[in-house]
Amino acid sequence: MIDMIVNLYELPDSTALYARLSEQGIILRRANAFERHIVAAWVGEHFSPKWVSEVKVAFSRQPVSCYIATRDKEILGFACVETTAKAFYGPTGVSEAARGTGIGKALLLRSMEALKEAGYVYGIIGGVGPRAFYEKAIGATAIPNSTPGIYRDILPD
Ligand SMILES: CC(C)(COP(=O)(O)OP(=O)(O)OC[C@H]1O[C@@H](n2cnc3c(N)ncnc32)[C@H](O)[C@@H]1OP(=O)(O)O)[C@@H](O)C(=O)NCCC(=O)NCCS
Repeated sequence: MIDMIVNLYELPDSTALYARLSEQGIILRRANAFERHIVAAWVGEHFSPKWVSEVKVAFSRQPVSCYIATRDKEILGFACVETTAKAFYGPTGVSEAARGTGIGKALLLRSMEALKEAGYVYGIIGGVGPRAFYEKAIGATAIPNSTPGIYRDILPD
């Protein structure tokens, strides 16, 4: 697993992608504090206990630093910033059935826009993961010597 870096001053324009998802009835928004148990349970069902721990950190922040994609009041995907570490993106995931429709990229762009709005110049994608996705979706580049990075001496589940 490597970490990747994103230049926040060169983010792609997200307008068309957000509009395309909206036309499909997909809502991309910040999660609400009162939805923490619902989002955490969804992450546990689709992903891992460690991601549940991280997503709960996003809900301990104000404003909440977790974004979700929903349709008909069902979660399709989620993404967090500043849970694992400052300026870090992740964890993130899209339900298997909803993959390939642009949701993962939209969550990524929305999260990176949030980091930029918070004043960061670079965003870090921690512990990648699908490297080609990040290269293509947002022009992320690998950080040299970033393995294992922060992900060392990890307690087993
Ligand atoms: C990675 C993930 C979030 C992508 O979500 P998604 O909604 O399927 O991605 P999108 O539909 O937004 O894809 C955007 C583009 O990236 C491409 N892409 C998606 N996954 C890719 C992958 N694994 N490798 C290379 N390209 C990928 C798509 O083909 C699409 O290309 P296009 O713009 O030319 O159409 C999703 O596959 C997932 O949840 N994976 C499991 C969890 C995970 O690995 N999380 C990341 C941890 S670092």
